[in-house]
Amino acid sequence: MKKILITGGAGFIGSHVVRLFVNKYPNYQIVNLDKLTYAGNLANLTDIEKKPNYEFVKGDIVDAEFINNLFCKYKFDGVIHLAAESHVDRSITNPLEFVMTNVIGTVNLLNAAKANWLQIPSHIGTDGKEFRFYHVSTDEVYGSLGETGMFTENTGYDPHSPYSASKASSDHFVRAYHDTYGLNIAISNCSNNYGSYHFPEKLIPLSINNIKNNKPIPIYGKGENIRDWLWVEDHARAIDLIYHKAKTGTTYNIGGHNEWTNIDLIHLLCKIMDKKLNRTPGDSAKLITYVKDRAGHDLRYAIDSSKLQNELGWTPSLQFEEGLEKTVDWYLQNSEWLNNITSGDYKKYYEKQYSKR
Ligand code: NAD
Ligand code: DAU
Repeated sequence: MKKILITGGAGFIGSHVVRLFVNKYPNYQIVNLDKLTYAGNLANLTDIEKKPNYEFVKGDIVDAEFINNLFCKYKFDGVIHLAAESHVDRSITNPLEFVMTNVIGTVNLLNAAKANWLQIPSHIGTDGKEFRFYHVSTDEVYGSLGETGMFTENTGYDPHSPYSASKASSDHFVRAYHDTYGLNIAISNCSNNYGSYHFPEKLIPLSINNIKNNKPIPIYGKGENIRDWLWVEDHARAIDLIYHKAKTGTTYNIGGHNEWTNIDLIHLLCKIMDKKLNRTPGDSAKLITYVKDRAGHDLRYAIDSSKLQNELGWTPSLQFEEGLEKTVDWYLQNSEWLNNITSGDYKKYYEKQYSKR
């Protein structure tokens, strides 16, 4: 039985990846390692938590000794690394935490993988080819686009926020462990995800929650920034393909070919929410409130995912309007999940964040 370590599996994307792997590969033992920060939530995985091929381990990737012991204990065959501090706004107020988890945490995992896969006697001479380290990264490492063009795998790195700088750094370390030690790695850089279990500090779930509660929808700057949105389950399918099929050392871009200005997206969301909540058309849009812009706010992201489509046959499955409606339905049907998150610490963070804007 293959043992795969998935880090950050209690978060938004990680929980979808864990679910997909646990259900699709009953012959894999999936170990979900997560620190359960504010963004990690075991309630994201209640439907699979009792499956015999699933195990949860609570732990911090910044703790090198703990990570080494974990690798020695489980003798993993592969790693899919998603654990990260992921919110740009938080990186602006607390960059060091992003360096610790996203950079140091990644290097700790690489060191443990190197020690366990390339240096133990039974693996010497195999180049550790059967052991894969897959690093899940972001399109934000490429910086910001003007009105035209798209990010390809050859676009130079130009990160602007502490978050994207920390992810760029971790990407470089992963490649360095391939080039220097021969570690079998793959990297993907994906655009903005949306869907169920998305933590309500990010634009779409935050806006759904605020519209539902008749609270202002905060739009940074003029709302003209553009993001390229992808259904989270399509990202999880891409991760499955890349983990199993990518040649060692390869990078793939993943994106929905689905660009929206923030303000157009919010107008579409308001229209869907009016319908779902039986409100008069236009009511939700009255909550739109322009607030101070994010510092260093990247203007536009757009991903060219043709390499992934041509080489591995991946295509996004959902049109955005359909996916957004499904997402709204999920949040309205899962108010207990949402209410649990939006009480306590979330409330304090949110109030502090917006008192400054
Ligand atoms: P998330 O914030 O929802 O989840 C991150 C998870 O990592 C949480 O469960 C958290 O508890 C865990 N974690 C954080 N620090 C940890 C530590 N020190 N040790 C162990 N676990 C820790 O993030 P997400 O949106 O699901 O993103 C997952 C990954 O995908 C990240 O690497 C992110 O950079 C990347 N990514 C995200 C998007 C997106 O749109 N959300 C797009 C492209 C790439
Ligand atoms: O592109 C991939 C990235 O997408 C991931 O690497 C990050 O982990 C993920 O958080 C996401 O980053 P963004 O900064 O693009 O996502 P966010 O939802 O925070 O913001 C989306 C856009 O909406 C961005 O232009 C900022 C704007 N925004 C955001 C919030 C939270 C607002 O206008 N108002 C808001 O309240």
